[in-house]
Amino acid sequence: PDPMADYDLSRQIQPAVGMRQGLSNYGDPHFSLFLRKVFIKALGYSEDALSRPIIGIVNTYSGFNPCHGNVPQLIEAAKRGVQLNGGLAIDFPTISVHESFSTPTSMFLRNLMSMDTEEMIKAQPVDACIVIGGCDKTVPAQLMGGISANKPVLPLITGPMMPGSFRGGRIGACTDCRNNWAAFRANEMDIEDISALNEELAPTVGTCGVMGTASTMACLTAALGLVPLRGGATASAVSSARLRIAEQTGANAVRAAQDKRTLQSILSEASFHNAITVLQAIGGSTNGIVHLLAIANRHPEIYDKITLQTVHEIGEKTPLLVDLKPSGDNYMTDFHNAGGIPALFQTLRPLLKLDALTITGETLGEALDAENFRSFPFSTQIIRPLAEPLYPCSSLAILYGNIAPKGAVIKASASKYRHLLKHRGRAVVFAGLEDLARRIDDPDLDVDENCVLVLQGIGPIGFSSPGMPEAGLIPIPRKLAARGVKDMLRLSDGRMSGTAGGSIVLHISPEAALPESVLAIVKNGDIIHCDVESQKLEVELSSAEIDARVKDRIDRLEGKLEARGPAESRRQPTRGYRGLYEKSVTQADKGVDFCFLTAQGAVK
Ligand code: FES
Ligand code: MG
Repeated sequence: PDPMADYDLSRQIQPAVGMRQGLSNYGDPHFSLFLRKVFIKALGYSEDALSRPIIGIVNTYSGFNPCHGNVPQLIEAAKRGVQLNGGLAIDFPTISVHESFSTPTSMFLRNLMSMDTEEMIKAQPVDACIVIGGCDKTVPAQLMGGISANKPVLPLITGPMMPGSFRGGRIGACTDCRNNWAAFRANEMDIEDISALNEELAPTVGTCGVMGTASTMACLTAALGLVPLRGGATASAVSSARLRIAEQTGANAVRAAQDKRTLQSILSEASFHNAITVLQAIGGSTNGIVHLLAIANRHPEIYDKITLQTVHEIGEKTPLLVDLKPSGDNYMTDFHNAGGIPALFQTLRPLLKLDALTITGETLGEALDAENFRSFPFSTQIIRPLAEPLYPCSSLAILYGNIAPKGAVIKASASKYRHLLKHRGRAVVFAGLEDLARRIDDPDLDVDENCVLVLQGIGPIGFSSPGMPEAGLIPIPRKLAARGVKDMLRLSDGRMSGTAGGSIVLHISPEAALPESVLAIVKNGDIIHCDVESQKLEVELSSAEIDARVKDRIDRLEGKLEARGPAESRRQPTRGYRGLYEKSVTQADKGVDFCFLTAQGAVK
């Protein structure tokens, strides 16, 4: 008799599908399964438990990540949801990335986290996986990794923190961190006040409570159909509603596992159309554009179909409706209490593609129809009707021109001085962050309020600092700030925080670190012309002059001529993750992913 017949992979107490994945390690699948069960049983699981759909739960708790401070409770609630629905929940860690504790930048680490997420989901015997994330780069990293892993992957958002209170007014990280710090620097607040405020700006765990990148990505995840419509994006991190979302996500994960509903099977161009529509309507973070491009380019059927121009075209049809800081005045808890995502989607209905699929198998239209809108407050203060928008359209606009042949981004709705959106001015150029720090407050700096501040070297590779630091919000030179100048047109190849505002052109591509960059050859005194309405961003130089300057710079980069500054200095080779990053990172117009991680595999 064949002893293997009794150890048939399919006949023995039916192991969960996940337990049978990848059993070729020893060239003997029966032995592999036998061994796998030996080790998992060390944790006390029975054959019965191991015969259930196995739902992995990605644990991104870290003592350095307050935005994920509620992860232990979310895991417990998600496990309850899994196990009440016949699955077996098993949690495991991946890295966790917090904005403030990620040097040089969290963006630098986003792709690393996406690789960790993808590989651990692929490697381990899970039928589906819940990925718990919240802080700015974690949700994008998990979606990128989740699409590439191509198993059923369900995001569970940690949720926004509560607003704090100071002298009778509400405050919240991090828009109010910036406003109040500026007031302190301008002598409008004393050390006692700014210290007392420091205690209150982040009064609970959870993500920043304004429409920064974390809240933006939560709303986009809802628009992609991947979290429960009601509360999935907006319920506060410390609310009981957030725990019920976790339990519901557990239940959804068991069903998604049974139906093998992978992210590649759910997400379509229509899903991304909806995400961009929502991005424009919430006045979302400029970072959301970079992340959406990276996420879309992980999908084999969507690769390169969603571009900066898609963002622009959808923007032209989409008004800004949600009144949250920094474009408006309120906090995420207000958005939640005003009806949140279902109320917003109901308002946006005519602009959404309702046949897009969601994680439950329903279409977005069906999920919206299932909401009972009479049962929650639908405040038109916070979520404006289409006819009475906060900003008519193109909250986020895309610019092109000789200085940005592959595009640049501006959050037009966050500019309070609209004349700067159509402006010609003399360039005042800074070659990197050190140069900026050394000269910006110099009383002898040759600058006036009509000048255009240009910062080079903070792109993805960045000759000044890698990972697109959020330094695009170049400070107003102190001598102008002292005269009451609040805004100037500012240009860079870097990013800015989703919680910031001003007339700021970002993500100029190609970045100044690349030899072909035109941004890198702009000099003091060159005239910059920006016109948001006609999508134009140009330096007024002839193409012959541009070609000559680019050629001269390449000679200096190659050491044939002497470098006159950091923009012309030859790059030193780097090792480790940074070496991999510099060799492989794509430009902002492609999502700043590693070329070998995109669905195309290698094209840069
Ligand atoms: Fe984590 Fe703002 S620091 S969301
Ligand atoms: Mg941020």
